[in-house]
Amino acid sequence: MTDRSIRTLDATEIRSAHTLFRASLHAAPLTDERWQRARRTYQDGRTLGAFENDTLVGTARAIDTTLTVPGGTVPMAAVTGVGVRADRTRRGVLTDLMTAQLADCAERGVPVAGLHASEAVIYGRYGYGIAAHVRSRRLDRRRAEVRASAPADGEVELYDLDAALELLPDVYARLARSRAGMLDRTEHFWPMWEGHYRTESGLMRLAVHHGSDGPDGYASYRVVTEDVADDVAVMYVEDMAAATPAAYADLWRALLRVDLITRIESRWQPVDAPLEALLTDYRAVSTMSVEDDLWLRLVDVPAALNARGYAGDDAVVFEVSDPILKHNSGRYRLSAAGSEPTTEPAQLALDVDTLGMLYLGGWRVADLAAVGRIEVTAAGADDDALGAAHRLVVTDSSPWCGSFF
Ligand SMILES: CC(C)(COP(=O)(O)OP(=O)(O)OC[C@H]1O[C@@H](n2cnc3c(N)ncnc32)[C@H](O)[C@@H]1OP(=O)(O)O)[C@@H](O)C(=O)NCCC(=O)NCCS
Repeated sequence: MTDRSIRTLDATEIRSAHTLFRASLHAAPLTDERWQRARRTYQDGRTLGAFENDTLVGTARAIDTTLTVPGGTVPMAAVTGVGVRADRTRRGVLTDLMTAQLADCAERGVPVAGLHASEAVIYGRYGYGIAAHVRSRRLDRRRAEVRASAPADGEVELYDLDAALELLPDVYARLARSRAGMLDRTEHFWPMWEGHYRTESGLMRLAVHHGSDGPDGYASYRVVTEDVADDVAVMYVEDMAAATPAAYADLWRALLRVDLITRIESRWQPVDAPLEALLTDYRAVSTMSVEDDLWLRLVDVPAALNARGYAGDDAVVFEVSDPILKHNSGRYRLSAAGSEPTTEPAQLALDVDTLGMLYLGGWRVADLAAVGRIEVTAAGADDDALGAAHRLVVTDSSPWCGSFF
């Protein structure tokens, strides 16, 4: 019989866990040089290993960070490095890892966990829901031009990768509160960012917008020449954020000005970034995809709910079910004052993964009810509880994470 246990790995075991994780993604082990960098993405004491008869068969880890939420912030465990050996899958290893990791977050008082999912069918069962989306677009560089009426304020300067690593952490830190869903990129995030640009093809550049109040926007890109004979060079803009409309417009002016580029792919940006409206020719840009971005799991429902703000005069009573962290299950009354446990009858009922979807205001509450994710009780239907809930949680701009981990 298999004897399985989950425990926190010590420093000597981290590299084998990383190798196992990479193998689960069909990637080869890292060279010593690349491991030196990858090692810096590991936070001490946050890597779990699953052992069967003393053999490591699965792993999952987390990085402590802070999540920007509507009207505030909340501590978050950024979950990553999840993998199970291909000869040990579908026998509950991940379930044991996820259960242990959530229990650890609860014990440490971390109210929210978040992740990016390799497949959308994995994490709902552990209470994670899609809280934010990303949009990727393609631009025909020769047709794309910023409208003359778009604001301008400042200069854009280009930096190479080494300079970017010096400069960008401070620039990013000034922007991390500008949209719900963004994270603090702690010291453990930057080696991942660096690893991407050290290993992907093409020359990397960081464009920083220096506005009248200092750096207030950036875009990092790499240019790959796909077909020299046909003059096809693609600029991949993979990390971009702007605190002001002028910074956004100026960055696009600068990107479109770079010579010898045929196409620009603007990847993983906020769904509502107004790029089409910024350009003289709306059809110079087209959406390639809208995909799930950040998945959130409320580990401590009342603490998480009270970390964000709510709009309006409505109040709604809802019942949450959480089969894994049972202390979350119960009825809550939500209003502009926050959430409190209640014994009043529920108007809405939902599972904790659906609450995670609603947490940053990125979904219409009625849409989630329409697909059966939220049940409306008779009392809730009479009181238009869906409308009330929507007015409470909805936000002006689309939530967006924009940080890779
Ligand atoms: C995804 C992964 C970690 C799942 O590990 P696992 O140990 O097989 O998961 P479990 O056995 O605990 O699965 C629990 C349940 O989820 C289901 N499930 C897990 N992964 C699934 C997947 N990729 N597709 C469909 N169902 C999946 C299982 O069928 C099982 O369902 P059940 O409870 O109804 O029987 C593993 O398949 C893996 O390492 N995949 C490659 C790497 C990867 O994608 N990592 C995630 C990075 S975000």
